[in-house]
Amino acid sequence: MSLSRRSFLGGMTVALAGTRLPAATHELILAPQSIKAHLAGYDVSMLGFNGGLPGPEVRMRQGQTARITLDNRLEEGALVHWHGLRVPNRMDGVNVLTQDVVIPGDSYRYQFGVPDAGTYWYHSHYLSYDQVSRGLFGAFIVEEQNAPAVDHDIVVQFFDVLLDQSGQYDEAFNPAHFATEGRIGNTVTALVFNGTGKTVKRGDRLRLRLINPSIDRVHRVGLDGLIGKIVALDGMPLAHPRTLEPILLAPGQRCDVIGDATGPIRFDDSFGEQTLSLGEIAVSGSREPAKAPITALPANRMPAPKDPGQTAELVLQGGAGSASHNGTGTWALNDVSGLPRRPFLSAAQGTTARISIRNETGFPHVMHLHGHHFWELDAAGEAGPYRDSTYLDTGETRDILVVLDNPGSWMLHCHMLSHQADGMATWIRVG
Ligand code: C2O
Ligand code: CU
Repeated sequence: MSLSRRSFLGGMTVALAGTRLPAATHELILAPQSIKAHLAGYDVSMLGFNGGLPGPEVRMRQGQTARITLDNRLEEGALVHWHGLRVPNRMDGVNVLTQDVVIPGDSYRYQFGVPDAGTYWYHSHYLSYDQVSRGLFGAFIVEEQNAPAVDHDIVVQFFDVLLDQSGQYDEAFNPAHFATEGRIGNTVTALVFNGTGKTVKRGDRLRLRLINPSIDRVHRVGLDGLIGKIVALDGMPLAHPRTLEPILLAPGQRCDVIGDATGPIRFDDSFGEQTLSLGEIAVSGSREPAKAPITALPANRMPAPKDPGQTAELVLQGGAGSASHNGTGTWALNDVSGLPRRPFLSAAQGTTARISIRNETGFPHVMHLHGHHFWELDAAGEAGPYRDSTYLDTGETRDILVVLDNPGSWMLHCHMLSHQADGMATWIRVG
């Protein structure tokens, strides 16, 4: 009821502004199934939504309502999580906390509004370390009511997979993957989707939406052939666009870049010891570059933080070579592995909470909170970017500030999915 009313009002605003009036709802079916994917020159047996890896790009206008049917054509359970979108709790796609697993042959209807413009993604949230690594993910784009003028809007997903000698998904089980930096693949590809299919010319203005759907691999993405700015992180606009330099993208994180092409756009990854080349966007022909400066994207409506009504500490523990803890898994949060019976934090709706996260392990992690974005605080307590996932290197501590305005039970976990699978997950209760 309130959803359709909101999208009606959203539609009115658009009509008054004189731009195209989008349909109030966006309907689609997402059917996870076995597929053959073309990766690194091999035909690999993988999983995909609607026959593809990545799954279809979902693209909506801010203020619309999504009606998405999950049609499970797998031989195992399925669930879809809308990563970074502030959806009602029962639409969040998390078994145990928000819904039951959808069994093979069954379907489930998700319906939610998209209040925030930006670059998000969707992925399996059931046995996700396995299902996401086999291909169950896709981009979820919410366009601004007044999007900046660009010639191309291109989604690039940096996907890492472990293939065996014969070029098939490596089925070997290696317990060491769960206790270290995770299951790092040997094949990293930039999956590029240019919706318009128009050739990119030198001088064209591009919006690149970079997504890291890899289960465990952190990318540090360098871009060649583009002069521009970083305009958003984890979907949310930066008030002050940043200079374009290599971008740290931990699993689950996103980054939007706007810039003008000066040549073929090449992506590389300098996170590891050697720099990997990830792929490129070809360029042909040229034109005069646009003169308009690259400015901040229109802000999303963010809640106003108050003085923290609640503070909490979250200690990341476990993994190879670190001190023991009291959890039953390899990894633990505050001495508990996996979802505890009681939430890590319980707060009345609207509470501002300050959470101090301390990484006591020998590996980096990326902590993701469902249903909310939060501010990363710097050492002086100043608010940095408004994100849904925060990266912590070994030994690092970071405080985050979050307005817990979305009622329900929300997962908080490491988005290195092998770590999540082996204990690094907890939850927050709001309202
Ligand atoms: Cu991107 Cu709990 O997930
Ligand atoms: Cu982790």
